[in-house]
Amino acid sequence: MRRSLVVGNWKMNGSLVQNKDLVGALKQKSFPSNVEVVVCPPTVYLPQVADLVNEDSICVGAQDVSHQANGAYTGDTAAEMLKEFACQYVIVGHSERREYQRESNTTVAEKCLQALKNNITPIACVGESLEQREQGATLSVISEQIQALIERLSEDQLKSIVIAYEPIWAIGTGLTATPEQAQEVHAAIREQLADAGSSVSLLYGGSVKAANAAELFTQKDIDGALVGGASLDADDFCAIANSF
Ligand code: 13P
Repeated sequence: MRRSLVVGNWKMNGSLVQNKDLVGALKQKSFPSNVEVVVCPPTVYLPQVADLVNEDSICVGAQDVSHQANGAYTGDTAAEMLKEFACQYVIVGHSERREYQRESNTTVAEKCLQALKNNITPIACVGESLEQREQGATLSVISEQIQALIERLSEDQLKSIVIAYEPIWAIGTGLTATPEQAQEVHAAIREQLADAGSSVSLLYGGSVKAANAAELFTQKDIDGALVGGASLDADDFCAIANSF
């Protein structure tokens, strides 16, 4: 179902003490009732954060999941394991994993399937590099990434995922896609998803902050944000969620 979502990707940040402070500060805030708020700590802190959150207004997500159900996959975490720690979402195919762990479009689709089998909503990330944008290849790169999902997921499964468009050149750089640039890609993704498109929430990610969130959220195909740096500050993260 298409819903408004603000997701904090903490990446490889935090500690037992910092997580307690951050979640404590978030719990003091008020979030709009029509926006689902999700925090995604590093895997090792999921049990701690799930315990700390312990309420309906903030959900917990993971940053990655194995493409396999279980077995000899050293270092990986199965979707079934994430589910044991109240994990409702999982980010898959983040550009940092595509780059540093060489995750392919096929692997990303397999990870989505594992999450879905365990009733966890995958947040599948797509995005182009600066070089690809400059070559005018943005829409074809995104289309290829989306096509891999369309080929491996049934229509019902597609309707159950969330997609995040994160231009790589905008991640952690302070450069944000203009609302028009983001809308252009979001509209193309929704069109490519055909009948499933109207059910899928499409998030934008890449240097989202309180100062630019409201303008991004006015775009008709932007349903929310995947937030990196600004999600580590309770005031900033809350201001983004309240920008709808
Ligand atoms: P920043 O918000 O720090 O640019 O990170 C975006 C991101 O990668 C979220 O997944």
